[in-house]
Amino acid sequence: MQTLSLTTPDDFHLHVRDHEALPYTVAATARCFARALIMPNLMPPVTRLEHALAYRERILSACPSGAAFTPLMSLYLTDHTPVEEIDRAVDSGQIHALKLYPSGATTHSDAGVTHLDRVMPVLERMAIRQLPLLIHGEVTDPDVDIFDREAVFIDKVLAPLRQRLPELPIVLEHITTRQAVEFIREQTGRVAATLTAHHLQFDRNAMLVGGVRPHYYCLPVLKRKEHRLALLQAATSGDPRFFLGTDSAPHAQSAKESACGCAGSYTAPTALERYAQIFDEQGALARLEGFASHFGADFYRLPRSTTQVTLVRSPWTVPASLPYPGGAIIPLGAGSTLTWKLAHD
Ligand code: DOR
Ligand code: ZN
Repeated sequence: MQTLSLTTPDDFHLHVRDHEALPYTVAATARCFARALIMPNLMPPVTRLEHALAYRERILSACPSGAAFTPLMSLYLTDHTPVEEIDRAVDSGQIHALKLYPSGATTHSDAGVTHLDRVMPVLERMAIRQLPLLIHGEVTDPDVDIFDREAVFIDKVLAPLRQRLPELPIVLEHITTRQAVEFIREQTGRVAATLTAHHLQFDRNAMLVGGVRPHYYCLPVLKRKEHRLALLQAATSGDPRFFLGTDSAPHAQSAKESACGCAGSYTAPTALERYAQIFDEQGALARLEGFASHFGADFYRLPRSTTQVTLVRSPWTVPASLPYPGGAIIPLGAGSTLTWKLAHD
């Protein structure tokens, strides 16, 4: 197959940052995605409906003219989120989820949840209103090895939460382990997981063999190959509980290439092309459209997109660097070759 047309996909997990970063980050996604679920981990975090609506306007203002792109907004759950905020969020029709960051788990998570007991009334209201909870699924216990934090979270936090509140819609975000795949498969009801292109394509060797490669450092951290193979199987299986979320997480080059570099890989400029390559390599191109364009919209009870994008098999080189506030940003895989290219680029 030399060309591939599919329903314009949606990215159900995206960081675009704010203000002067937006023209760059929004354009990188709007070139090929119809919608993206925008993560709320700004500084300060997007905790209230009004913050999200104002942020949405800033994103739309930064959208390249002519691009048909819709940002889908989420709120950042804290220990202090009022129960009434759930009703305001749902009634606005503009908020599609709340994001749970365990406090201290990742970039800008300090305001996150310290213990689930503190947010149970909010989660109960979300279950009643069927507003999805998006979970960064890692424990923060300093005694737990960073490579085990997702699996321990599933055992110690997520499984008990499912028991306690089985009606709460949940998306376990950017899963990285066989245990996460197995957990999702065992569930009934409105539970799903997003999969990034980088966790499908790379294991921890990409980050650590031959030198430390900071652009591959993200959270949850890349795992060993056996986990990646389980993710690949899930993504290409046609199971609608697994769908696309890039977790594209831009940080300026200087913030990544540092003695204490930030977590996050900037994949938006190459994400759809990467997913196409991954599915192609698995002999599963026919299943890309479900994963990228149907299953996420169905989970969120949104209409599927009605437009199409076309990819062509035409090797191209990922730019070494891209413009970004504060200097430059290095896209993941800078200088490497990708097989699929957007037809209109
Ligand atoms: O690698 C990551 N980067 N993981 C996250 O959970 C947050 C993200 C960011 O915002 O930079
Ligand atoms: Zn993220």
